[in-house]
Amino acid sequence: MFVVLSASLHPDSRSRILAHACAEALRTSGREVTLFDLAVTPLPPCDGAAAYADENVQRLSSLIENADAIFVASPVYNFDLNAAAKNAVELTGQAWTGKIVSLMLAAGGQGSYMSAMGFANSLMLDFRCLIVPRFIYATGDAFEGKSLADVDISNRIEVLVNETTKLADAMKLIG
Ligand SMILES: Cc1cc2nc3c(=O)[nH]c(=O)nc-3n(C[C@H](O)[C@H](O)[C@H](O)COP(=O)(O)O)c2cc1C
Repeated sequence: MFVVLSASLHPDSRSRILAHACAEALRTSGREVTLFDLAVTPLPPCDGAAAYADENVQRLSSLIENADAIFVASPVYNFDLNAAAKNAVELTGQAWTGKIVSLMLAAGGQGSYMSAMGFANSLMLDFRCLIVPRFIYATGDAFEGKSLADVDISNRIEVLVNETTKLADAMKLIG
């Protein structure tokens, strides 16, 4: 089972469009997928205490723990993923241990291309995640209304899905 985590809280989010395109590509390739949208299923702010018992937090933790890989789709906010994405990781921490993670970003401009690295590093160092070294990075001109309108980005999502599922299958084989 593959999880697509959509982190934007914006009602007309572009990274959510990436998340849905990714989920669709996974389904087309015959994979089981759960899309977890933080705008639909809100999580409490991580307080390091009572928040861990929240029902939505428990659900996300269990999805991540059971996932063959996780695709995170997020806005770029201040040269990083948004706070909601980081909050989700803070709340579900150990569930990420050893997971394969792929990243997809929606940004305002081309200059923030390296913004995934802090998040990627923390997953690698904290939880020994395997980060797929192929990011999706899309700016506003890749979208038209509620649709993805850039063939190159669509193709890149397909390649990301192919490489991530291939890696997940290989990791399962070697245990
Ligand atoms: C608080 C805030 C900070 C932002 N910081 C950046 C940034 O550092 N670099 C960038 O390219 N775009 C930045 N943007 C633009 C967003 O990345 C862009 O609007 C993107 O589409 C948001 O993703 P979403 O549509 O999925 O919510 C920022 C937007 C907001 C609201």
